[in-house]
Amino acid sequence: MIKVIKAETYICNMAKVTISHIKADIGSLPGHTTVFEPVVDEVRKYIREHSSSILSDFYISHIGDDIQITMIHDGGIDNEEVHRIAWDAFKAGTAVAKSYGLYGAGQDLLKDAFSGNIKGMGPGVAEMEITPRKSEPFLVYMMDKTEPGSFNYPIFKMFADPYNTPGLVIDPNMHEGFTFEIWDIVAGKKIELSTPESIYDILAMIGSKSKYVIKRVYTRDTHEKLPDENVAVITTDKLSFIAGEYVGKDDPAAIVRIQSGLPASGEAMEAFSYPFLVSGWMRGSFNGPLMPVGMKDSKMTRFDGPPRVVCLGFVLKDGRLSGPVDMFDDPAFDGARRKAGEIADYVRRMGPFEPHRLPDEEMEYTTLPKILDKLKDRFKEVDSVKKKKNLLSTKDTD
Ligand code: F6R
Ligand code: MG
Ligand code: MG
Repeated sequence: MIKVIKAETYICNMAKVTISHIKADIGSLPGHTTVFEPVVDEVRKYIREHSSSILSDFYISHIGDDIQITMIHDGGIDNEEVHRIAWDAFKAGTAVAKSYGLYGAGQDLLKDAFSGNIKGMGPGVAEMEITPRKSEPFLVYMMDKTEPGSFNYPIFKMFADPYNTPGLVIDPNMHEGFTFEIWDIVAGKKIELSTPESIYDILAMIGSKSKYVIKRVYTRDTHEKLPDENVAVITTDKLSFIAGEYVGKDDPAAIVRIQSGLPASGEAMEAFSYPFLVSGWMRGSFNGPLMPVGMKDSKMTRFDGPPRVVCLGFVLKDGRLSGPVDMFDDPAFDGARRKAGEIADYVRRMGPFEPHRLPDEEMEYTTLPKILDKLKDRFKEVDSVKKKKNLLSTKDTD
């Protein structure tokens, strides 16, 4: 059982509220397995001592080797002070990580100096400005050893699949569907598509989870209780694009608002009841099952995984957090965990072969190209191909 510590609280009144979730790997032990408590303590202490005029509340958690900061404030998204405090807290934590010689100390802090916005500097960011309801329940999902596109499947299930979410059929507000903002993270473009009418178009994209990622979900303007509001947001930061080389997977996080015309808590959780395959795991190079776990099991031991997801449940009122509840710490998910273990046994037997190992295109973002580069000068033309080429060119000139 985890010790559920009450969130830090400072009260202030505000109409719009922003939930900012920022996460980073700043060192772990013994490998990329789990965070070290003194480092987590330092991050918490730094924020507690420096945030009273910026944040109304915050909560520090972790999964695997990533420290996670959930912050509540009224400064809107991309707020310089909020981003700076997270950056400085990670810097303070990195100093502690270095003093213990932790592995990968400061790993995700890819730039030297903070320049106004933490985006593009290494840490993952998911933020939404909301009009809080009378009761504002929300979930924070955190994944380790995988990538942002791993949220495509469960977010689609929650907000668009009636077999997962009966509210889409039964609740008049949900029946109207939702709007999905999807990013092409390779081309740096985005598109908005609404359900139910564009379900097939959405699926045509989000199945390619290393290229297209769901960034946000909005209610439609016909939603009676909460029109045109951001109700889910996912981190989409791509570390290898920032660093120019493989520096670890872009372990993602998401914020999902729930209840009252949105997916119920249980509908949002149900999307993780089947351990679907995600990319990441060992060296960011393997497909493996996503295992839902409670905080006590959020360490990456087997083959640096298997990839895991933790979920914390909060309620927000007047800028103050109650909770969290450790949502997967429940025997109801034992079946999913067991199945994930069986899938891990099965795929591991394939060793370095596809489809356990990722396809070639995705290995571009790992350290494999360095190995292949050494062999490139040893390749010779295959005779039969040469002949075929000659044949083709004769045909062409005929
Ligand atoms: C995957 C991950 C780990 C490391 C692996 C090798 O995202 O973080 O699986 O890739 O432990 O780590 P290095 O290269 O640091 O020895
Ligand atoms: Mg790491
Ligand atoms: Mg990690």
